[in-house]
Amino acid sequence: MSRILTVRGGVPLKGRIQVRGAKNLVPKAMVAALLGNAPSTLRNVPEIKDVEVVTSLLQLHGVTVVKDPVTGDLTLDPANAKTASSSEINTHAGDSRIPILLCGPLIHSIGHAFIPDLGGCKIGDRPIDYHLEVLRKFGAVVDKTGGGILISAPHGLKGTKISLPYPSVGATEQVLLSATRAEGITELSGAATEPEIIDLIAILQKMGAIISVQTDRTIRIEGVNELSGYVHTALPDRNESASWASAALVTGGDIYVEGASQRDMMTFVNTFRKIGGGMDIHDDGIRFYHKGGDLKPLVLETDVHPGFMTDWQQPLVVALTQAEGVSIVHETVYENRFGFTNALTRMGANIQLHRECLGSVPCRFGQRNFIHSAVISGSTPLTGTTIDVPDLRGGFSHMIAALAAQGTSTVTGIDIISRGYEKFTAKLDGLGADFDVHESSKVLR
Ligand code: EPU
Repeated sequence: MSRILTVRGGVPLKGRIQVRGAKNLVPKAMVAALLGNAPSTLRNVPEIKDVEVVTSLLQLHGVTVVKDPVTGDLTLDPANAKTASSSEINTHAGDSRIPILLCGPLIHSIGHAFIPDLGGCKIGDRPIDYHLEVLRKFGAVVDKTGGGILISAPHGLKGTKISLPYPSVGATEQVLLSATRAEGITELSGAATEPEIIDLIAILQKMGAIISVQTDRTIRIEGVNELSGYVHTALPDRNESASWASAALVTGGDIYVEGASQRDMMTFVNTFRKIGGGMDIHDDGIRFYHKGGDLKPLVLETDVHPGFMTDWQQPLVVALTQAEGVSIVHETVYENRFGFTNALTRMGANIQLHRECLGSVPCRFGQRNFIHSAVISGSTPLTGTTIDVPDLRGGFSHMIAALAAQGTSTVTGIDIISRGYEKFTAKLDGLGADFDVHESSKVLR
C-alpha cells in the first residue's frame, strides 16, 4: 500500500542530515561482487529500494548477502552462484534498471543471464539498445522472450573495440563489468566518466582488474582470468546531497549535509554559488543555506560529467522559481525530464516549456520535437496542492515545493522517493518540517 504525505508548508528546513553511499554506485558494486572468487564487503550502504531489489536478485542467483546489523555493511559471497528461475526473477520486472548490469557478471559466473523487463524513472524512453549492442560485441547472443531477455555466450565473452554513440553511464558500466574477465583487451571510446563510474573502476581494480582511463573518454581494459573479492567504502551520494542543498534554498533554510563531498560536486557548487546560495565547505560535509535577500536567476545546461548533472536539475528548478528574474534550463541528457513542472505550475510557478534547444550547444533532442528546455520566471509564491509523484527526482522536487508552499499539500506516490533517498521522512522530521505520513487512514509518524 502506498504512503501519502500531508505537508503544511512555509517552515524553513534547518538542521543536520547524513548522506551515505551513492544510489548510482552501490547496487552496481553489489553486482561486481559476482565477478570475484571470494566474498566482498561493501561499506556505507544506504537503506534504499534499489539495494533491496539487487539483494533479492543476487540471492535468487545463489549469492549469500549478509547485512551487518550494526553498520549495515554488506558481505556478498558468490561461491554458490547458480541459475535462478525466470519466474522468480520476473517478480522484479519494472522495479529497477540495475538488472541489465547483471549480464556480464552472470555470463562469467554461470554462463548465461535472464533479465526481466526493466524499471527506473519515467523520464524518457530509457532504451537499452547500447547495452545489448555492447553485449553482442563481446560475443553474447541476445534472445528477447515474452517476459524478458535471455543472454548467453556459447564461446565466452571476448575483448573488443567499442565506441558509444553517447557517453551513457549504464553502457559504460556494462562494458566494465563484462570486460574485466573477458578474454583479451577491450577498448571503449566515448565512455562516461561520472564519479560513480570511477568508484566502480576502483572496486574492480581492488579485485585485480587492469583498467586505465584516458583523458579522451577512452577506457582500456585488459581482461584477467580471475578476480578476488573487495573491501570498499562507497562514495557518498552527490545527487542526494545536491537535492538537500536545493531544499535549503527553496525553504529559506540551513542544512548541514554530512557526507557531501565537494570534489564530486564542483559544478553544482559553482551553480549554487551563482544563484546566491550560502555554503561552508568542510572535510566531512557541506553546510548549504539561504543567505537572505534575493536569489539570482541562471542559464543552465545539464550534461554528462563533468557538466551539470541531470539529476540535480529537478530540485534546482524549484529553487529557480524563487529567484528574481528569468532562468533558462536546457536538459540535454533525457528527452522528457520536465513533466514534473506541471505540478509546480499548478502551485503558482511561471514555467514555459520549449521544444527548441535553449542553450549554447544544440543537443540530440533539438530537431526531434522533444520538450526539453524550460524558461522559469520568478519569483512566484507557491501554494499547496495535491500532487502525485511521477519519478524519483521529480518527486523530491514536488516534496520540497510543498514544504516551501503556503498552505497544505497532499503528496501521493511517495514510495518512489525511497528508491533514492534513505529515510527521507525521518530526515525531514529532524529538519523541522511540518508533515504527516498516512497509509490509508492511519497516521504513521
Ligand atoms: N540511452 C540510450 N540507450 C541505452 C542507454 C542509454 O539511448 O541503451 C540514453 C538514455 O535514454 C539517456 C542517455 O542515454 O537519454 C543517458 O543515459 P545513461 O545510460 O547515461 O543513464 P543510466 O545509466 O540509465 C544513470 C543513473 C541516472 C542518471 C544517468 C545519467 C543509475 C541507476 N541511474 O542512468 O540516475 O540520471 O545515469 O547520469 O545509475 C536518478 O538517479 O534519478 C537517475 C535517473
